Amino acid sequence: MKKVKIVVAYSGGLDTSVMVKWLMDKYNAEIITATGNLGQKKELIGVEEKAKKTGVSKVYLQDRTSEFVEEYIFPSLKAGALYEGVYPMATSLGRPLLAKMLVDVARKEGATMVAHGCTGKGNDQVRFEVSIGALAPDLKVLAPLREWEFTSREEEMAYAKRHNIPVSATLASPYSIDENIWGTSIECGVLEDPMVEPPEDAYQRTVSPQKAPDSATSVLIDFEQGIPVRLDGKALDPIRLIHTLNETGGANGVGRIDLVENRLVGIKSREIYEAPAACILHFAHTELERLTLDKPVFHMKKQLSAEYANLVYNGLWFSPLRRSLDAFVNETQKTVTGSVKVKLYKGTLTVAGRSSPYSLYNTKLATYTKEDQFDHRASEGFIKIYGLPLKTFHQVQLQMNGNGSNGRSANGKQATAKQPKSVPA
Ligand code: ARG
Repeated sequence: MKKVKIVVAYSGGLDTSVMVKWLMDKYNAEIITATGNLGQKKELIGVEEKAKKTGVSKVYLQDRTSEFVEEYIFPSLKAGALYEGVYPMATSLGRPLLAKMLVDVARKEGATMVAHGCTGKGNDQVRFEVSIGALAPDLKVLAPLREWEFTSREEEMAYAKRHNIPVSATLASPYSIDENIWGTSIECGVLEDPMVEPPEDAYQRTVSPQKAPDSATSVLIDFEQGIPVRLDGKALDPIRLIHTLNETGGANGVGRIDLVENRLVGIKSREIYEAPAACILHFAHTELERLTLDKPVFHMKKQLSAEYANLVYNGLWFSPLRRSLDAFVNETQKTVTGSVKVKLYKGTLTVAGRSSPYSLYNTKLATYTKEDQFDHRASEGFIKIYGLPLKTFHQVQLQMNGNGSNGRSANGKQATAKQPKSVPA
């Protein structure tokens, strides 16, 4: 009988290693592993050999870093997308691309099923399954962690040992770590207590701000239409640029985020993030927008940034809303060209300067010197008309409520006199 083919999203960690064997037995399946390189440094060492030793028929290791940066990271950077105001979403952005990779491999191999190693209470299962469902509705998605018999890492370890599945020593780590070029996500272990300060060993790519150099490091970042293109005057390809900022930022203790966040599945969880380049780039990009974007556009974009972040976090990367928001964002980015100087110092970021050929900052209007061209006298009429609705409101409706500015009379009681029906108290 022809075996069923399953493509497994494989990281080489304990869960996915055990999963390969488990699926092989349960479905009498031929297993093909697919591992995406999204610019992570540590995770991929020895992954191919490990997969082969587990008995899979074929191993895919695809470098999708460039696609990740150009098509996922940069759009989210331009959008200013930070979940709950702080998390640059390295993990959330990576999942739809890994889902796409699974679909690509499944198509190439003629597989009818794909499997991922996400747990039943995280966001990642949703991101994978919603994305695969959109791109390849005919593929069946398996999530062994939601249904298998193991209830602890120890049980998985014992199973691995029984079946000669190679598991590396790094599994001794008490943390669950997910890493790519845009950042590292760290949870579990002592981090589950939100009152516990993360121990130093939880951090993977940043030094503690206390141990960072005593003098500041400056970086000059040039953007073209919202995309970083040069570092300290030197043109760098996007991957190099991000790696360099990760290193410089990490060495200065920049990019640590300790977040109690709202998951899509309804719980709060505590996670530590390290994203030096992402934090520096988001910071610099916003500073440039402060200079170049028209006020209503800047304000509207801030609101849409939150929407953008929510949809990415919530697994809707391949949605029509994301495309529509991208269209808005790209229109705004036409003038986000220029330079920002950022100082990194013991975990902090400070803007040290910004300039742009599209700068809307007009010194002649802003200056308090003799060069001033602002029409001060015009302000009088402006204020009169601008404040007119407020004046009218106070004169008409608050007067009815008893003269006080908060609608209460002098004795503190809610005024009831002369309230017309149409005006709420
Ligand atoms: N909470 C983050 C998110 O949903 C990261 C999830 C993965 N974290 C991990 N440590 N494995 O995007």
